[in-house]
Amino acid sequence: MNQKILVTGGAGFIGGNFVQYMVEKYPDYDIYNLDLLTYAGDLTKHKEIENNSNYHFLKADIADHKAINELFGTYKFDYVIHFAAESHVDRSITNPEIFVQTNVLGTQVLLDAAKNIGVTKFVHVSTDEVYGELDFDPATFFTEETPIQPNSPYSASKASSDLLVRAYHETFNLPINITRCSNNYGPYHFPEKLIPLTISRVLNDQKVPVYGDGKNIRDWLHVIDHCAAIDLVMHEGDNGEVYNVGGHNEKTNLEVVKTIINTLDKSEDLIEYVKDRLGHDKRYAIDPSKLEKLGWQPTYTFETGIAQTIKWYLDNKDWWERIISGEYQNYFEKQYSK
Ligand code: NAD
Ligand code: DAU
Repeated sequence: MNQKILVTGGAGFIGGNFVQYMVEKYPDYDIYNLDLLTYAGDLTKHKEIENNSNYHFLKADIADHKAINELFGTYKFDYVIHFAAESHVDRSITNPEIFVQTNVLGTQVLLDAAKNIGVTKFVHVSTDEVYGELDFDPATFFTEETPIQPNSPYSASKASSDLLVRAYHETFNLPINITRCSNNYGPYHFPEKLIPLTISRVLNDQKVPVYGDGKNIRDWLHVIDHCAAIDLVMHEGDNGEVYNVGGHNEKTNLEVVKTIINTLDKSEDLIEYVKDRLGHDKRYAIDPSKLEKLGWQPTYTFETGIAQTIKWYLDNKDWWERIISGEYQNYFEKQYSK
């Protein structure tokens, strides 16, 4: 019988790329994309795979205990790859409650359902933000042993979900892995996040808001390299282990924004310094050596990845122009009118 892989959040950015990667790479696996289709979920990205016989879509809220238990009872999934979450730090500052509801309660509901049917493995897709922040000393990195010290309501909700996953492993022997990845970028990235926001606004000759002095550092990884890491951890990761994922691509926000502006041959006058994010983490940087020992290596550098991504946004204007109209426009105006 085909392996049944439940991917939660498969209509979002990373989950969506992962669903496409898995449907194409493993024709003998049945891939179930479970998603509530919030503002961040969009199924049009799957038009090239939606008729594949190994792709299935299930609409549900991960925090809905009854619906989730019924689906697990019906389909008896072998693997759960859990991406579904509220993912945007700025939104967690203005409206933290939904982050607790989805990221904490939703994860606990999935863990319970997975325990009840006895899955082969539950892979929890987490973030480097659970470790808090580093200072600007380039010799320091987050390792899997770095203490959890989240600073935003988003990262606190993700850290809480990590601890629940760990607890279900310790208490109920649920087979698990936790992955903690650095900042992703690539196709289908929702344009509220720095890189797609900058590309879309620069292409429209609009100002790009840079928080504070623009010197905060993020460690960027192309989304396809993240998908390959999760594929590896799902199949080869040691039960109960945490794996950090990152490709040693540290950049200041200003470097990222200037790279995009210069690649698109526009003026750096488009940069607009705005009020800093509350509790803005200074620097993230991942030590991925544990995952590298398992056999993972990124395929993109920041330079090759950002060039591919900018080209993708140029070639797929229809997709992001639809996203930045309507409801999103209201969000953006509220966010920057403060
Ligand atoms: P995203 O916001 O683009 O997508 C989230 C998806 O989850 C959407 O399709 C949304 O509809 C769905 N969803 C939200 N609430 C739901 C609910 N209650 N029930 C079912 N589905 C629901 O997020 P992303 O950037 O693709 O991130 C995916 C995961 O990876 C998250 O868990 C995030 O914490 C983690 N992560 C993200 C990054 C990054 O740079 N984006 C880096 C490391 C880890
Ligand atoms: O590190 C992994 C995390 O990366 C994930 O867990 C999150 O889900 C994901 O959203 C991302 O979080 P960040 O807060 O790092 O990403 P964001 O794109 O929101 O911001 C990147 C940096 O750019 C950050 O230092 C804030 C800054 N920024 C962001 C926006 C949206 C700006 O200067 N201007 C902006 O308009």
